[in-house]
Amino acid sequence: MKFFIDTANLEQIKEAQDLGILDGVTTNPSLMAKEGINGKEAILNHYKTICEIVDGDISAEVLSTTYEEMIKEGEELAAIHPNIVVKIPMIKDGVKALKYFSNKGIKTNCTLIFSAGQALLAAKAGATYVSPFLGRLDDISVDGMNLIEEIRIIFDNYMFDTEILAASIRSPMHIINCAKIGADVVTSPLASILNLLKHPLTDSGLAQFVADAKKMG
Ligand code: G3P
Repeated sequence: MKFFIDTANLEQIKEAQDLGILDGVTTNPSLMAKEGINGKEAILNHYKTICEIVDGDISAEVLSTTYEEMIKEGEELAAIHPNIVVKIPMIKDGVKALKYFSNKGIKTNCTLIFSAGQALLAAKAGATYVSPFLGRLDDISVDGMNLIEEIRIIFDNYMFDTEILAASIRSPMHIINCAKIGADVVTSPLASILNLLKHPLTDSGLAQFVADAKKMG
């Protein structure tokens, strides 16, 4: 399973990269706005900087919602770096844009996936990734993990190349359950990745080893 970090914060991206487990980065307009990135030039520069930090797929989301505008914007984003993945919303014009970029060999990530039918359409259009939003489904009392299982079954039935990129991760248990089901990628906030490290028996066991090591001189 690939690990992506879901942030536009450069410090957090560097911290995950330094850990040695990072395979890519996902961003969205809300995450970019949170970092105070404003204006086209600043947006393109920020993605360029992320590409220089991480050698892996970097999702950059279009801000427009019509086919023509998404194509223009997506082509500009794809021109930044070969690792840029154009992130496109699951709407009718978005499906057409996925097909356009797929035909051109440009990687895509179809975002805002909340049903198996949406994932199937995106895969048919040749999306590189689909991003089902686990946490946002859990937030409205719908089992997000069930959606990952449904998409896994469908993609396996027809051997789609499209990868399941589990998004809207809220906890380390989301990551573990995604790994059990067989999501291809999990994109997660840094905190949930770091929480995978934690176990009280590791801490107490290490404290004991350190104390005993001192006795050995
Ligand atoms: O990048 C898409 C997704 O991961 C957003 O997560 O926490 O805003 O639901 P969240």
